[in-house]
Amino acid sequence: MADRASDMRQDFPILAREHRGRPLVYLDNAATTQKPQVVIDAIAEYYAQHNANVHRAAHILAEEATQLMEEARDLAQGFVHAAHREEIVFTRGTTEAVNLVANILAAELSHEDEILITEMEHHSNIVPWQMLAQRTGASLLAVKVLPNGDLDLEDFQNKLSEKTKVFTCNHVSNALGTVNPVQDLVAHARAVGAYTLIDGAQASLHEHIDVQALGCDFYALSGHKMFAPTGIGVLYGRLGLLESLPPWHGGGEMIEHVTIETSTYQKPPFKYEAGTPNIAGAVGLGAAIKYLNELPLDDLIAQEQQLVANTLSALKQLPGLRLVGEPKQRTAVISFLLEDAHPHDVGTLLDQQGVALRTGHHCTMPLMQALGIPGTVRASFSLYSTQTDADHLLAAVDKATTFL
Ligand SMILES: Cc1ncc(COP(=O)(O)O)c(C=O)c1O
Repeated sequence: MADRASDMRQDFPILAREHRGRPLVYLDNAATTQKPQVVIDAIAEYYAQHNANVHRAAHILAEEATQLMEEARDLAQGFVHAAHREEIVFTRGTTEAVNLVANILAAELSHEDEILITEMEHHSNIVPWQMLAQRTGASLLAVKVLPNGDLDLEDFQNKLSEKTKVFTCNHVSNALGTVNPVQDLVAHARAVGAYTLIDGAQASLHEHIDVQALGCDFYALSGHKMFAPTGIGVLYGRLGLLESLPPWHGGGEMIEHVTIETSTYQKPPFKYEAGTPNIAGAVGLGAAIKYLNELPLDDLIAQEQQLVANTLSALKQLPGLRLVGEPKQRTAVISFLLEDAHPHDVGTLLDQQGVALRTGHHCTMPLMQALGIPGTVRASFSLYSTQTDADHLLAAVDKATTFL
C-alpha cells in the first residue's frame, strides 16, 4: 500500500520541525492533533476578510461570517451523520458538552435515580456527573474495567436498571485506546429508559461516527483532536430532546424575546449557544472536516491500525516493558510501563531523544486506581504517523531501558 500517511504529512507544517537535531516525533495525538495548513489558512482568511459577529447585523461581513459558521454546522452534521442540522450545537469542546448535558438534565433526576458511568472515563466525563449527583441526590455508579482494559460487560448488566436515568461512556478510551461497544451499550441503556451520552473525543479521527446508527441521545467531540483548532467542539443532541429540555447558559443569541421578568428562547441549536460563539474556531472546524472529507479515510485508518499493531508487537519484545491494557479492540493509543520506573522519568528520557509523548494519569485517575498503577507512558498515533515515528519510539524506549 502506498504510504499515504507520509504524503499527508506535507499538509502539516509543524511536522517538518526538528527537535534536538532530528525530526520531531509527535506521538501525543490523543492530547491534541496538529493542524493542516488549510485549517491555519481558513482561520487567517476568516480574520483577514470576513470577521464580524454572527446572526445579528445586516451588513456584508456579518452575512459572510454567519454563512461560514453555518456551513461549518452543515459539515459537522455530515461528519457525525445527524439527521438534522439543528442537532449540532457548537461548544468549546467535549468538556463543555458534557457539562451542558449534565446541567440540562438536572430537572429530570431525583434522589431515587442513578447515573451510570464507567471507571475508564476521562475526568471530564466524571466530574460533571458527580456535581449533578450532588445537586439532585441521585447516586453515581461506575461500570468496572477488566484487567485487560475492556469494560466489564457483566458488571454493566448488573448495574444497569430501571433506576438508571443517565448512562454515559467514552467511545474510545484516551488512556488505553479501548474501543467500547457503544452501540450495544446504548441499546441496553435506552431499553431501561436512560438518557445516553457518548464521549467521542478520542473516536472522531479513528472511528466512523454515525449517531443515528449508534442511537445515542447525545454525542460529544472536540475539534482540536481532529485537526481543528482548540476551543471548538460539537455536541450532537437528539432534536426532540434539544427542543424539550431547558437551556443552560443564558444571554444573547439564545433568546427570542426578553422582558425584565422573563424570556422566551430560540429553537435549537441557538437555544444552547449563548453569547458570541467561537466563530473562527467553527470556521477552522469546518475546514478540518472538509480536509478529512477529501482524504482516503478508510485507507488511512487501516494503515494506522497496522502501524499500531506492528508497534505493539515490537514493544512486547523489549525486556522490562509491560503493556497496560490489551483490549480486544483498540485504536491509536498504546500505554506501557518500564520496569519499576516512574512514567515521568521515562517521558523525560524519551523527550531527550526527540520523542514527544504523554506520561501520567491522563485525566483518568479512577482508571489508574482500578488498574493499581500511578500512571502510564502513552504513545498516541494519528493518521499522519509513520513507521519512522514508530521506529524512533522503539529505539528511544530501548535506549531508555538501559538507563533505568
Ligand atoms: C476521552 C476524552 N474525553 C474528554 C476529553 C476532554 O476533551 P477537551 O479537553 O477537549 O474538552 C478528552 C481529552 O483528552 C478525552 O480524551
